[in-house]
Amino acid sequence: MSKMAAVMESGEDAFKQLFKFYKRRKPPPDFSEVIDFSGKLCSGKVVPIKLNLTAVSDASIVGLRPAQDWRAFGLQGYPGFVFISNPFRKGSQPFWIRQCLKTYPQKPNVCNLDMHMSPSDTQDIWERSVHSLSSPTPPRRQEKSLLERLRWVTLGYHYNWDTKLYSEDHYTPFPADLQLLSQQIALSCGFSDFRPQAGILNYYRSDSSLGIHVDESELDHSRPLISFCFGQSAIFLLGGKQRQDPPTAMFMHSGDVMVMSGQSRLLYHAVPRIVPAPPGLLPSELQNSPTSPDTNSVVEPVSEQDWTVCLRYIESSRINMTVRQVLGPGQSFPQS
Ligand code: OGA
Ligand code: MN
Repeated sequence: MSKMAAVMESGEDAFKQLFKFYKRRKPPPDFSEVIDFSGKLCSGKVVPIKLNLTAVSDASIVGLRPAQDWRAFGLQGYPGFVFISNPFRKGSQPFWIRQCLKTYPQKPNVCNLDMHMSPSDTQDIWERSVHSLSSPTPPRRQEKSLLERLRWVTLGYHYNWDTKLYSEDHYTPFPADLQLLSQQIALSCGFSDFRPQAGILNYYRSDSSLGIHVDESELDHSRPLISFCFGQSAIFLLGGKQRQDPPTAMFMHSGDVMVMSGQSRLLYHAVPRIVPAPPGLLPSELQNSPTSPDTNSVVEPVSEQDWTVCLRYIESSRINMTVRQVLGPGQSFPQS
C-alpha cells in the first residue's frame, strides 16, 4: 500500500499524525525537531525578518521593548508568518497576565463559565478564586476554583463556538489596552490600519491541547491574526492549506508573539502539548519587578497580592490571546 493509501486507510493525515506524536504521554516524544526561537537557531528553515521599525510608535507604553531590539523570524515556505521572540520589557508580562486573569474575564466579556452559570455567579471570578489560589498549600481535594475552571474568554465581537460565527449584535467594546498592544505588533509587520475587533483568550492546564483548525470565521482575511503567549511553554504546529501538508513544530514561550498574515493567514495549526517548566523554574522574565511607571503607560504595577495569585496560576498553566480583525474597511455583516 502506498504511504498515502495507508494514511487514508487509517483516516490520519500528516497533521493528525504529528499532532498525536507530540501529544503522546508515554513515552514522551522527542523534541529535537522542534524549532526554538529563543535559543541557537539550527533549523535551516528559519530566516531573520526585517520589521517596519519606524512604524512602531508606542512600544514602551504597552510594555514592549524598543522595536529595534525585537528578534523577529520567518519560516521558509510560510510567507506572512512572523515569530517575535518575547518582545516584552522585563517586568511588563505580569501586567498582561493579570489582565488575562483578573480583568478580561469580567463582564461584559463572555467566558465558558457563563454557559452553565448565572451572570451573578460569574461576576467575580477573580475574587471568588483568590482565597484558594493564595493559600500556601492547596487544601486537598478541594473543588477547583472558578479561575481554574476558566477555559476561554471572548472580547469584542464574541465568537460563537457552536455556529462558528461572529455577529453584529453580540459585541462589547474591545479592551483599549489590548487594542493598543496589538496595533503595535501589526504596525511592525506593515499593517497600519489593523483594527482589533475580536479576541479569543484560551486558558490551558498542563494536560490541555488545542485541536487542528483554521481561523476562517472572520469576514476579512487580508488582516493578520496576532497571537500572544503567557505562562508555560507549548508546542505549536503550523501546517499548510491542506491537512496532508506536514506541519512545522516550534516552541512558544512566555511573551512570544506570532503573526499569521498573507499566505499564512489561513493555514492549519494546533497546540498538541503544553511543556511545563520544572516546578519553581519560571523564566526570570516573569518576575514582577516594579517598573518606573511611564506617564502615559497602559501598563500598571501589579500588587504583590495579585501577583501571588497569578504566579500560582501560571505555575501550571498557559494563556494565549489571539486578536483578530473581523470586518474589512467598510464591510458589514451579511443580513441573515
Ligand atoms: C486560536 C489559536 C493558539 C494558541 O485561539 O485560534 O490558534 O497558541 N491559539 O493557543
Ligand atoms: Mn487558531
